[in-house]
Amino acid sequence: MLLLTIETSCDETAAAVVRDGRTVLSSIVASQVKDHAVYGGVVPEIASRKHLESIPVVIDEALRTASVSLDAIEGVAVTQGPGLAGALLVGTAVAKAIAFARRLPIVGVNHIEGHLSAIFLEREVAFPFVALAVSGGHTHLYRVDGIGRYTTLGQTRDDAAGEAFDKVAKLLGLSYPGGVEIDRLAAEGDPTRIPFPRPLLHDGSFNFSFSGLKTAVLNYVRKNPVQGDGQQLRDLCASFQRAACDVLVTKTLLAAETEGIGRIVVAGGVACNSALRRDMAREAADRGIELAIPSPSLCSDNAAMLAVPGDFYLSRGISDGLSLDALVNWPL
Ligand code: KG4
Ligand code: ZN
Repeated sequence: MLLLTIETSCDETAAAVVRDGRTVLSSIVASQVKDHAVYGGVVPEIASRKHLESIPVVIDEALRTASVSLDAIEGVAVTQGPGLAGALLVGTAVAKAIAFARRLPIVGVNHIEGHLSAIFLEREVAFPFVALAVSGGHTHLYRVDGIGRYTTLGQTRDDAAGEAFDKVAKLLGLSYPGGVEIDRLAAEGDPTRIPFPRPLLHDGSFNFSFSGLKTAVLNYVRKNPVQGDGQQLRDLCASFQRAACDVLVTKTLLAAETEGIGRIVVAGGVACNSALRRDMAREAADRGIELAIPSPSLCSDNAAMLAVPGDFYLSRGISDGLSLDALVNWPL
């Protein structure tokens, strides 16, 4: 099927045209980062207004880049949740309007299901696999037995990993979004310099906790104020990043070993992190575990990833009607 997909769950307005849930003909992402940066985080009201402004342009651009007219589109997939209410409403309303006007089938896709499926746009991975979803809103470990067949193994008890990166960046005076900045500075820092805690590292569960780590950084900075942007800041970033990655890598490998599964997929915006990619690759290789992480452009928010589950459902006749509604809290 030739699908048009639409994603507006947070601060990226995105649309894509994808054939058969595998071949990306276009993937357009309009980032609102600059609009929110002055406030140090995403402002929901601004996000909704920017989505409204951008979405017609982004959809036009997706069709034009794919050299496809709306007449050729056979179905629509849209992020139904979880996410910001006003932001999701823009995407779902536009998707429903297109489906109504063109008499097309429409399916609502869970944003996290999109992230977990993005890898299939680049390569196949055999089921079952263990998946780590790490983004600004999620830190979840799943057992994935097929598209639509997810078992939650563990999740964060407080902050998501991306949220911790962003909050730590903010308290270090770095610009929003902070994950990328910490990654960049950490590359020149000593990760063994400050022994930050690794919360829940050896509790035997697959749950995470990042708020204590963030508080540890805050307490350290209160005692040792950051002077400029020199080596001290780089060591701080590297030490925090190492602590966060140690927990993510250890728990993910433990989940794979406990489930007796030899394949791991890492997905979501934090999967762009260079240390996480490197550490996960090293530890997985040591244990003979196959690791698949999408290219960074498919880890951060995009609409192409929705086409994998979207095509799977629509080609099996599973669709939502025009009563499809945004689901702000929608567990996978
Ligand atoms: O998946 P995503 O684009 O949006 C959500 O669904 O939340 O993830 C965004 C998160 C932000 O917290 C951002 O700081 C983080 O991913 N992130 C990173 C990196 N790039 C993005 N965190 C650490 N290192 C990075 N290189
Ligand atoms: Zn996301």
